[in-house]
Amino acid sequence: MTQTNRGSLAFETMDLRLLNVLQSHAAPAASTNGFEIHTCQRSVAVLYGFEALGAARTQFPADGALEQFEGAAAYAFLLRICCGLESKLVAETEIFGQIKQAWRNFSSGACGGSRLAQQLSPWMQHLFRDAKEIRAQYLGSLGSASYGSQVRRLLGDDAAAGPTLLIGAGQLAQAIAPWLTGSELWLSNRTAARARELATELGKRSPERPVRVLDGIEGELAAWRGAHQIVICVPPDVDSDRLRMAAWRERTGSGGRIIHLGAGAEGAASWKDLPELVSLGALFGMLQAHSDVRRRQIERARAACREKALLRGLGANASHPHSWEDLAAFNVA
Ligand SMILES: NC(=O)c1ccc[n+]([C@@H]2O[C@H](COP(=O)([O-])OP(=O)(O)OC[C@H]3O[C@@H](n4cnc5c(N)ncnc54)[C@H](OP(=O)(O)O)[C@@H]3O)[C@@H](O)[C@H]2O)c1
Repeated sequence: MTQTNRGSLAFETMDLRLLNVLQSHAAPAASTNGFEIHTCQRSVAVLYGFEALGAARTQFPADGALEQFEGAAAYAFLLRICCGLESKLVAETEIFGQIKQAWRNFSSGACGGSRLAQQLSPWMQHLFRDAKEIRAQYLGSLGSASYGSQVRRLLGDDAAAGPTLLIGAGQLAQAIAPWLTGSELWLSNRTAARARELATELGKRSPERPVRVLDGIEGELAAWRGAHQIVICVPPDVDSDRLRMAAWRERTGSGGRIIHLGAGAEGAASWKDLPELVSLGALFGMLQAHSDVRRRQIERARAACREKALLRGLGANASHPHSWEDLAAFNVA
C-alpha cells in the first residue's frame, strides 16, 4: 500500500498506524503543519499520515536530537507525556493541563476545521480518557507531584514565617501561586497586567487571602529586601538577577529560601553564592530520591501506557483486553 493510500484510508478507519509524533528538545524553526506542543522540556509535533512527515522533520534543528514515534509507540509516548511520565518531575500533573490547553487552542483556532484536527480529534479524546484512567489507577496514590506541591513541601513551616514574593505570571507561576498560602503573597511580573490578572484569579478562589501586586523593578527589588521567601518563575536575566541578589543581601531578616524554577544548571550558576537558593536542578535531584514503592508504581503506569496503546491499535474503541489472546498476541505483561 502506498503512503498516500494509507493516508486516506486512515481518515475513514482511524488507523493508529498512521499516528506520527516527532519530539525534539529544540523548537522547530517554522510551523511543522502538525499539532504542536511546546513545553519547557520539549517540542512535539503530532501528525497523521506520512505525507507531511518529511517536511515537518526538516523544521527541527539538526542538533535537537529529533526522535520519531509511529503508531502504537506514538500513542504510548503521548500517553506517557500526558501522565507526566516523560517529565523530569515524574508524574507531575501540570503537563496534562498544558496539553489539553494546547489541543483546545489548536482545535478551536485557525486549524480548528482542518483535516488534521478532525483526524486527530478522536485520538486526542482517547488519549485524555486513557491518561485520566492511568493517573487514577497508578499514580493517584503517589502524592501530589506538581511543581506547586513540591515548592510547598520545600518551604515547609517557613511558608508562614513572612511574606512570599512570586516572580512571574506565566503558566508555571499560575500553577504554583495557589500553593503559596500561609503568609502574604506579593506578585511581580514584567507585564504588571498579567500579575494583576493572576491576583484576580487567586482572589476569586480565596477572597480572604492577602495578595499584593508590585509595580516595576523598583517595587520588586524592595520586595526582595522584605520577603521571607522568593519563588522565581521567569527565565534568568543577568542584569536583573544581579540587582535581585544585591537586594536580597541587603535585607534585615535572615533565613528563608529562594526557589528558582526558571534556572537550570547554567542559569543557576550566578546564584550559587546564595546558600538560600534551591534551583530547578536541585529540586529534580531531591525528587529522584524516589522510594521503591513510587518507582514500582511509575513502572506500572508506564506498562499501562504501553498496554493502552496496543489495545487502541486493536480498535480505536478498545480500552480493555478482549481476550487473553489479545494480550498474548501483543505480549503485554
Ligand atoms: N511550565 C513549566 O512546567 C515549567 C517547569 C519548569 C521550569 N519552567 C521554567 O519557568 C520559566 C517560566 O515558564 P512558564 O512555563 O511559566 O513560561 P510562560 O508561561 O511563557 O511565562 C513566562 C514568564 O516569564 C516572564 N518572562 C519571560 N521572559 C522574561 C524576561 N526576559 N524578563 C522578565 N520576565 C520574563 C513572563 O513575563 P511576561 O508576562 O511579561 O511575558 C512570564 O511571567 C521558564 O524559564 C521555564 O523554562 C517551566
